Amino acid sequence: MLPANKRIKMIEQKEHIEKIREAFGQEFGRFSDLNLGNLSLTDAENLQREIGELKIKHIGKKSELAGSKKLIGRVAPEQRGEFGSFVQLIEREITTAIEETEKNLSNFISEAKIERERLDVTLPGTRPREGHLHLLTILRQKIEDIFVSMGYSIEDDREIETDYYNFEALNIPEGHPARESQDTFYTTNGFALRSQTSTVQIRAMERRGVPIRIIAPGRVFRRDTPDLTHTPMFHQIEGLCVDKNITMAHLKGTVGEWLRRLFGKETRIRLRPSYFPFTEPSAEFDFSCFKCGGTGIFETERCRPCKGSGWIELGGSGMVHPNVLRACNVDPQIYSGFAFGFGLERMCSLMYSLDDIRLMFENDVRFLEQFR
Ligand code: DAH
Repeated sequence: MLPANKRIKMIEQKEHIEKIREAFGQEFGRFSDLNLGNLSLTDAENLQREIGELKIKHIGKKSELAGSKKLIGRVAPEQRGEFGSFVQLIEREITTAIEETEKNLSNFISEAKIERERLDVTLPGTRPREGHLHLLTILRQKIEDIFVSMGYSIEDDREIETDYYNFEALNIPEGHPARESQDTFYTTNGFALRSQTSTVQIRAMERRGVPIRIIAPGRVFRRDTPDLTHTPMFHQIEGLCVDKNITMAHLKGTVGEWLRRLFGKETRIRLRPSYFPFTEPSAEFDFSCFKCGGTGIFETERCRPCKGSGWIELGGSGMVHPNVLRACNVDPQIYSGFAFGFGLERMCSLMYSLDDIRLMFENDVRFLEQFR
């Protein structure tokens, strides 16, 4: 039994608790009609922290309400039940209000976080910068496509060759200028970097036998000092067709056909007598200028690619020399063939009006980007 002086009056305590309830009501006011729709994620997170503080203040262990609960035992025994229920009622009221708000806020926050992290795969992305093929590759592939559609195969072979494949099998005699070390790159142990793709004629006939129809695009090397029209490395495309009864008419027809497919059907070609060790007879081939159509005049000015002549000199050609066929174990009494070869860089620089063929090997993207 508590001594009378320790007793407390229920009425006064109830009034005190009413005040606590009122104070809570005031502070909680701004949470009670919270419009979540208008909140940002940071707003909501701030409110969540504040309501946590409110919770500690009003129903935490050190809250005034907790203090009042401790006084239950000091109320007169017959009033204890009533007072206890009253304290509990208020405590539940405050707890419910706070927890409801906490729940709403935390739902809102987790949804907002999911929303923020959602990936919309339909939004346009940042595109990586797109590359494209080099202009020489584009032209080479165009020409390859044309020849493949005419029944030719694409042949590839080595860039370092022996004296035999470079010269001997191609009927290039001792003392021919191409054999000179000032024109050809030699390795210290007697190999040479091929100075023309004609070497592939021999390799391909050895490998495939005849009849044969191939083109061989590839790099070739010559000891030239780089200038506007020379680089020590450049590209050629070689063509070879060997079968029974192949004549110069087939050569002219084939060269004309691929040039018409590349530059348009009005393109004409002409053959000029020439000399190459691996062909007999030999001819250089020209085609009518793609820019002026062969007139030599473009927009009242002297046409640039053909220098006003109406013709563009492209490459060499001829009927495969019997010695070359023999070197590949092909009987020249039964078989004959034609061959041709030309440089890709020259063709490219004419087609795109480049003043300097070195541009093609400097890999400056500002230059390369212009030729897709
Ligand atoms: N190889 C020669 C050159 O580099 C071009 C050539 C001429 C190739 C006549 C041939 C040919 O196949 O028959 O100048």
